[in-house]
Amino acid sequence: MKTQLEQIRAQAAEELHAAADLKQVDDLRVRYLGKKGELTAILKQMGKLSAEERPVMGQLANEVRAAIEEKIAQRQQELKAAALEQQLITEKIDVTMPGVKPALGKQHPLSLVLDELKEIFLGMGFEVASGPEVEYDYYNFEALNIPKDHPARDTQDTFYINDNILLRTQTSPVQIRVMENKKPPVRMISPGRVYRSDAVDATHSPLFHQIEGLVVDKGITMADLKGTLEMFAKKLYGDDIKVRFRPHHFPFTEPSAEMDAMCFACHGEGCRLCKGEGWIEILGAGMVHPKVLQNCGIDPEEYSGFAFGIGLERIVMRRYNIDDLRLFYENDLRFLNQF
Ligand code: DAH
Repeated sequence: MKTQLEQIRAQAAEELHAAADLKQVDDLRVRYLGKKGELTAILKQMGKLSAEERPVMGQLANEVRAAIEEKIAQRQQELKAAALEQQLITEKIDVTMPGVKPALGKQHPLSLVLDELKEIFLGMGFEVASGPEVEYDYYNFEALNIPKDHPARDTQDTFYINDNILLRTQTSPVQIRVMENKKPPVRMISPGRVYRSDAVDATHSPLFHQIEGLVVDKGITMADLKGTLEMFAKKLYGDDIKVRFRPHHFPFTEPSAEMDAMCFACHGEGCRLCKGEGWIEILGAGMVHPKVLQNCGIDPEEYSGFAFGIGLERIVMRRYNIDDLRLFYENDLRFLNQF
């Protein structure tokens, strides 16, 4: 039995030494020390020994078990260390390598300038409102004092969805929606997309953007309109800018006007930028028509107001010297990356 035990000790040591991974080490542990293992098999024969031999063999068996356990622990340690070493070699990172730069997005020029316009009006106490792009004929036309047979409808080639529903041709319907829901005082702007059935060229697009403005309160006059819009022009183009108001016609305002800014390229002389005019149109405006107030349940004897509509694209084109409207919608990165 002594020889058998010594043999097991030597054999286990040799095999553990040769074990190539933790799985093999564990298999050996089961083979030698497990319940059905070789050492256990020998210990089961202890009963056959004499009373003197038994404690001697028992002690030897314990020594062999302890020796094998120690070898197992040692081999596990070695294998783990080797695995870590390997991992450190294969996973090493060169911290001096240049990183890969993430591609950063940019704000669209239309959004950049719109944010600026919003900031200006928010600073003057306006709120920002919004309305649907798919709109009822009533809000886009009727309530704005443009009945079915009105010639103004011809100038706004409309995408109809059916007889009563269309893609809004202007942001003015938001005026009606705001006045229906809020009693004066009202001071709001409403930027958004509008649609007209126009062929695409350098200055026309079936989709473009407007910013509607509306102020309604007791005692609002044309002087408020002029003061507010002139202030807006100065905040946008600088204190030196000169503006002028020209009489105009819109069905939903009376009186109506257009505001021009003096051309900043030629200072009124007339040049290519302003097409020889010396002035550049910035917006349409006017005193809200009494019928429009009435349509929204506001008494025109008690309240008055002014409204305006700004074309966003034109302002952005002038700001960045962009001569073709199509650039805004093509999303060519070579264009967009310049802002
Ligand atoms: N809705 C007009 C257009 O699309 C612009 C406009 C002019 C809006 C005068 C107004 C206004 O609110 O008072 O041409």
